[in-house]
Amino acid sequence: VIESVYARQILDSRGNPTVKVVLDTDDGAQGEGLVPSGASTGEAEAWERRDGDKSVYGGKGVLDAVKAVNDVIAPAIIGMDASDQRALDQTMIDLDGTPNKGKLGANAILGVSLAALYASAESADEPLYRYIGGTNGHVLPVPNMNIMNGGAHADFATDIQEYMISPYGFESYSRALQAGVEIYHTLKSTLKKAGLETGLGDEGGFAPKLNNNEDSLKYIMQAISDAGYEPGKQVGIAIDAASSEFYNKETKKYHFDGEDRDAAYMLDVYSKLVEEYPIVSLEDPFAEEDWENWQNIVARMGDQLQFVGDDLLVTNPKRLQKAIDLKAANSLLVKLNQIGSVSETLDAIELATRAGFTSMVSHRSGETSDTTIADLAVAKNTRQIKTGAPARGERIAKYNRLLDIEEELGSTAVYAGPSAFKRALA
Ligand code: PGA
Ligand code: ZN
Repeated sequence: VIESVYARQILDSRGNPTVKVVLDTDDGAQGEGLVPSGASTGEAEAWERRDGDKSVYGGKGVLDAVKAVNDVIAPAIIGMDASDQRALDQTMIDLDGTPNKGKLGANAILGVSLAALYASAESADEPLYRYIGGTNGHVLPVPNMNIMNGGAHADFATDIQEYMISPYGFESYSRALQAGVEIYHTLKSTLKKAGLETGLGDEGGFAPKLNNNEDSLKYIMQAISDAGYEPGKQVGIAIDAASSEFYNKETKKYHFDGEDRDAAYMLDVYSKLVEEYPIVSLEDPFAEEDWENWQNIVARMGDQLQFVGDDLLVTNPKRLQKAIDLKAANSLLVKLNQIGSVSETLDAIELATRAGFTSMVSHRSGETSDTTIADLAVAKNTRQIKTGAPARGERIAKYNRLLDIEEELGSTAVYAGPSAFKRALA
């Protein structure tokens, strides 16, 4: 039974305020919920509540969301069973009363939802992945490691936001992680040798000035080989174009490599990249309301490749159902704070799985030390996770948590490997 709920304002990995919730139960368990935050957010995401007072933290304070937890949510849920996650989340959704958590704020609600989840796992004396997934959660996900950053996550910035390596052709998660880390370190030397900067973007990937979007892929291919691995056979490439960021809604053009391009041109660009590089995953190739071109690309290449909806789907079961009906994507990016509660996130994963979609559990560009997504990926056997480069503590925390889980599972741990993707060349 929930005895107390308390929120305070803390900082995320970009030094912006975010919400922390601490929840205590009468059996002495305590759970914490730390809320992440995006930069290239989808328009249909649940509402992230910010104070907006420009004189304080540039308007990014979350004291109103904190107050919503302490003054509105806490009195309504104290006395409830913390482990009745669904009832608890529903109570908060009803208390909010809007479709996008537009009254209390998704950052307020998710903080409480996560804190209750952790407290309940502690009461049950189970690690989080076991508590969420029961005994069936045993598959360690392929880490999609974002080793070159662009778009809204970096200064000089390619149009494409994320260039990830997917080390799938290995026996275990830990061995795959090692390969990813070695490639990342090799890439640093590769870039240095080419006279490029090796400063990091928000997700820990390198963010040099480049002439065009394809150059990143060339350097990454070089680094994979120089590190002693086989591109395609052992290591694939995953791209998040985050194209809503370079889409002009009025002209319906994509600003790419310095020119305004129409969707047909972009479709050809993607097709060519897929032909020339071992790309296993393509996220947000088209803008969040450009359903028609999503349909086109899935029709053209969906049988061999996963098209991940992030801004398109925003972890929202309703938008996901629309994409299923329209065949406008075939993979779900899973971000807890896009929808704003644990139960609804689990609903989205389940719906995706039933529709034959793959699921990739994801961090946000603004993160904390929270590692829930690592446990969630194992609990639900999603087979894929993306949580940045192997750099910056908030990214490493998730990769390290997966190492803990792998060792805890021992001989029952299975590495997802090439089976994670529709297209894996191993
Ligand atoms: P965001 O980026 O957290 O800034 O939205 C991550 C992504 O687009 O996948
Ligand atoms: Zn994305």
